[in-house]
Amino acid sequence: MKIYVQGGNCLRGDATVHGAKNSALPILAATLLVEGQSVIHNCPKLTDVDVSLKILTKLGCRCKREENTVIVDATSVSCDSIPDELMREMRSSVVFLGAILSRCKSATVSSPGGCELGPRPIDLHLKALSTLGYTINENHGYITCLKEDKTCAAVINLPFASVGATENAILASCLLSGKTIIHGAAREPEIIDLANFLNSAGGKVYGAGSDTIEVYGVNKLYSTEHTVIPDRIVAATYLSAAAITGGEVVLKGVNLSHLNSVLNPFRESGCKTRLSGDTLKLVAPKKLLRVPLTKTVVYPGFPTDAGPCLVAMLTLAKGTSVFVENIFENRFKYIDELKRLGANISIQNRVAVIEGVRSLSGAVVEATDLRGGAALVVAALAANGETQIGSIHHIERGYEDISGVLWSLGAKITKE
Ligand code: UD1
Repeated sequence: MKIYVQGGNCLRGDATVHGAKNSALPILAATLLVEGQSVIHNCPKLTDVDVSLKILTKLGCRCKREENTVIVDATSVSCDSIPDELMREMRSSVVFLGAILSRCKSATVSSPGGCELGPRPIDLHLKALSTLGYTINENHGYITCLKEDKTCAAVINLPFASVGATENAILASCLLSGKTIIHGAAREPEIIDLANFLNSAGGKVYGAGSDTIEVYGVNKLYSTEHTVIPDRIVAATYLSAAAITGGEVVLKGVNLSHLNSVLNPFRESGCKTRLSGDTLKLVAPKKLLRVPLTKTVVYPGFPTDAGPCLVAMLTLAKGTSVFVENIFENRFKYIDELKRLGANISIQNRVAVIEGVRSLSGAVVEATDLRGGAALVVAALAANGETQIGSIHHIERGYEDISGVLWSLGAKITKE
């Protein structure tokens, strides 16, 4: 499958933002802790969600989807290991480790290894689990964890506010008796969503959204129902798409409080934004202005996942913009593909210097990763002529029908 874009159309209209992938995945892992049924609404139709459901099924859960609602029955969990092929399909499957441990007291998963964003170590996850009293063995690419008893009184200090390590620490401590304190926790909205899900099932997770989280262990979690928060990165993607085409769009179903830092560079570039309830209107200027400096930072700073689409948008801004990627070591692979469209970007280590050009022109490009792939779609919307984007399975990991949504906003885009 490829995406074909005939660039040059201005985006106009309304689009609804789907549920957040990065909330849905840890929440699906957390359904393992529930000795009963979890009904998850606003669960996006994404390939990463499909992989999560395959993992849950493999572990003995019964899963079914009705449109954007997923129902997981984890009454009987029969297995404590994830096969290598499923681990490889989705690096973030490592968040299942904490969930399996909570439910089964032992777990075996294959090591996630490196990936398209550079090395993706899980040392912080394993250190947190070891602080919780789990014994960890790493052998031939497999990680086995075990804990004989259910007691715990641990203080976990995360030296970096890793999203995944915070999620694993919460999941692995939720059903231990005793109190766990996580210092240096990630503060992302997706962490709050996970805590809200667990608490709705009878868990006691306090302080999510701050850098100190307290987990009071409970014996068991009960059947529950939860609605996943909107995807702030998908929102940022459609804003970039509207902005680069000089368009005007209204995004519905967004959580504006999650978008504060995301909107700063859009405003600096001359876009007007109007916020009301759960809608966000963006009106782009005829010519985008440069954005002198954007740095990715952990929440509430500018999110690393919104970076590639912003960089794509700035390729057509007037003047020079600088973008600094502080979270991942090797997140600029998509920039070589943007250059095929005529972008003028130079990279030094974690810094990208974007010299705005007058126009981009269509080319044959390959998605290198999920957000980098979305950045190519954004750039293609404003490029003269046709762009053909390959390896779109990366994009489908995180966007529900990106071509359909952009088509409905007036783009000439098809998936074939
Ligand atoms: C999550 C998101 C991802 C987002 C990232 C940062 C999901 C499924 N994925 O990924 O989309 O880009 O947060 O907002 O929610 N690190 C270590 N050791 C560890 C763990 C992380 O060194 O044990 C480093 C990583 O290499 C990376 C940085 O910490 O450089 C951030 O990683 P982390 O916050 O853990 O991101 P993920 O949870 O993998």
